[in-house]
Amino acid sequence: MVYKIEILRRKHGEKPYKETFVYEPVREDESVATALQRLNERDVLLNADGKETSVIEWECSCLQKKCGACAMVVNGVPKLACSAKLSDYKKGEIRLEPLRKFPVIADLTVDRTILHENLKTIQAWFDSAPHRDDKRGSLAFEASRCLQCGCCLDVCPNFYAGGEFYSMSVCVPTTKLLCELPKNERDKIAREYAKHVYNGCGKALSCKNVCPAGIETDEMLVKSNAMAIWKRK
Ligand code: SF4
Ligand code: SF4
Ligand code: FES
Repeated sequence: MVYKIEILRRKHGEKPYKETFVYEPVREDESVATALQRLNERDVLLNADGKETSVIEWECSCLQKKCGACAMVVNGVPKLACSAKLSDYKKGEIRLEPLRKFPVIADLTVDRTILHENLKTIQAWFDSAPHRDDKRGSLAFEASRCLQCGCCLDVCPNFYAGGEFYSMSVCVPTTKLLCELPKNERDKIAREYAKHVYNGCGKALSCKNVCPAGIETDEMLVKSNAMAIWKRK
């Protein structure tokens, strides 16, 4: 099948515009990331109107659904480009946009600094060795799979960059901390959780439907609320 890939493009600091590319995969199981790579590898990149254009800016690293770098919006849904299969789009029409809650750097590349700033604000790290117990081991393991990709923030109705509510990308690492911090260090992170997650979350769970790591965000919320707010063991 030949695909039409429409990309919302933007040069550094300029107005956004749409540009369409025609792409025929070499293999049936190609991903959006492979299509972007192959388009950029062409000696001369032509758009669907046959006009020469500049390379498409986007980010990737692992190409194995492990780093979160390639997160972008595919046909309206935030996804990892390296795991979004072209063949899932039966009509052959694919629209790519940058994640919508972050400043755009260029084309599909966004500045996700706020993810790390929010983690820094609540001091989401261990000062001493983690305290591991069997009861919370599997929950802590689940939480550690968060890629910090930002897909959950893209669909969260209550999150905006710079706001007090930090949403699921902070909730999930906090769950791990609540599981593994030594008892005498949990109160501080529990207060940060109450302020930046519990107080602002509407619990409609749009985040659960899009997490590319398959993290059960409802479970993260329920268990973190139990540990941080209701002080259950
Ligand atoms: S919770 Fe899921 S969607 Fe959100 S940042 Fe982590 S991996 Fe990405
Ligand atoms: S449950 Fe709703 S408000 Fe809470 S983090 Fe998920 S999308 Fe955002
Ligand atoms: S490139 Fe690492 S998750 Fe897609």
